[in-house]
Amino acid sequence: MISSLQTLFDEVVLKDTLLGGKAVISFEKDFASYQGRSHAISCANGTDALEIALRGLGIGAGDEVIVPANGWMSAAEAVCLLHAQPVFVDNHPDAYTLDPKRIEEKITSRTKAIIPIHLYGLPADMPEICALAQKHQLKVIEDCAQAHGASIGGKKVGNWGDIAAFSFYPTKNLGAIGDAGAMVTADSSLAEMCRQIASHGQITRNQHIRLGRNSRMDTLQAAVLQYKLGFLEDWNARRRALAARYTDALKVLPIQLPVEKADDYHIYHLYVIQSERRDWLMDALGKLGVGTAIHYPQAVADMPVFSQYRQDDTPVASKQARQLLSLPLYPELEDDEQGYVIECMHKLLR
Ligand SMILES: Cc1ncc(COP(=O)(O)O)c(C=O)c1O
Repeated sequence: MISSLQTLFDEVVLKDTLLGGKAVISFEKDFASYQGRSHAISCANGTDALEIALRGLGIGAGDEVIVPANGWMSAAEAVCLLHAQPVFVDNHPDAYTLDPKRIEEKITSRTKAIIPIHLYGLPADMPEICALAQKHQLKVIEDCAQAHGASIGGKKVGNWGDIAAFSFYPTKNLGAIGDAGAMVTADSSLAEMCRQIASHGQITRNQHIRLGRNSRMDTLQAAVLQYKLGFLEDWNARRRALAARYTDALKVLPIQLPVEKADDYHIYHLYVIQSERRDWLMDALGKLGVGTAIHYPQAVADMPVFSQYRQDDTPVASKQARQLLSLPLYPELEDDEQGYVIECMHKLLR
């Protein structure tokens, strides 16, 4: 049993192989079991996880993939890197995730998959999305990079679609001390395919049966993640308690607060409010010593880099991008520090 990160470093750096060591296999086993899925396949980062998952499902040139208009860009980027086409669907007006009611109008004979992003830790509407996917025989790749441990009706995100991609970027709810990522799936042949793609198409050492790539999780990251996995539930619970306090204290102010349906277990990777005076509010909070951030200042669908796929029909995401503001929230945030943020919000907005 590892008692501290220092002991862990000594164990891994001095005794294990630095890449693909015992700790990687062991973390994959523990993460698969945490997720309740039979396979976890580690890789170098969350963007690779999305791209490898898409490739594993056979998605490529000529295919269309539905992606949320708002979120981090990796989903749309991974689709483009495979020469497939991202098709943007707007956000739900009350949430920050894919609006299932807007999906069907975007499905064509070339649509192969949907990538819901569980943005900010809020589960996307997976029952609706999976029903649509089933009706139109589409694959579902869940982007769980911001939602480790989130669930709907007790079923974890990452367990709804065909395969899920996780990032363990250091700031995530489960974060490494560098880059790392993983896929989880219940499908053994898909798992094997993804494992091969992530390792130069190898089935055993020096036997390459397809073109793959190098996307490895290093052993130190795996050991750190395995250690930190044991704290994830408590950290998520602390985030939820902080979020509940914000919601209760800020509900009287003229801002829009994050929503959470009765069945959702939102793990508040970020606590994101909306204000029509966002830029002023951010500046004023900054002057009072409260650091905030914008996730993200431009909807993915509006980014120049995706201009060739732009359809100008995602107004909710575009509007939200002008109003979003993330308040300080992380497990180590002290009650009195949060009290000060609340006090400043009241001072500025009442
Ligand atoms: C929603 C989402 N998807 C994908 C990624 C990509 O993960 P990584 O940075 O590990 O490539 C991130 C990381 O920021 C993310 O927030």
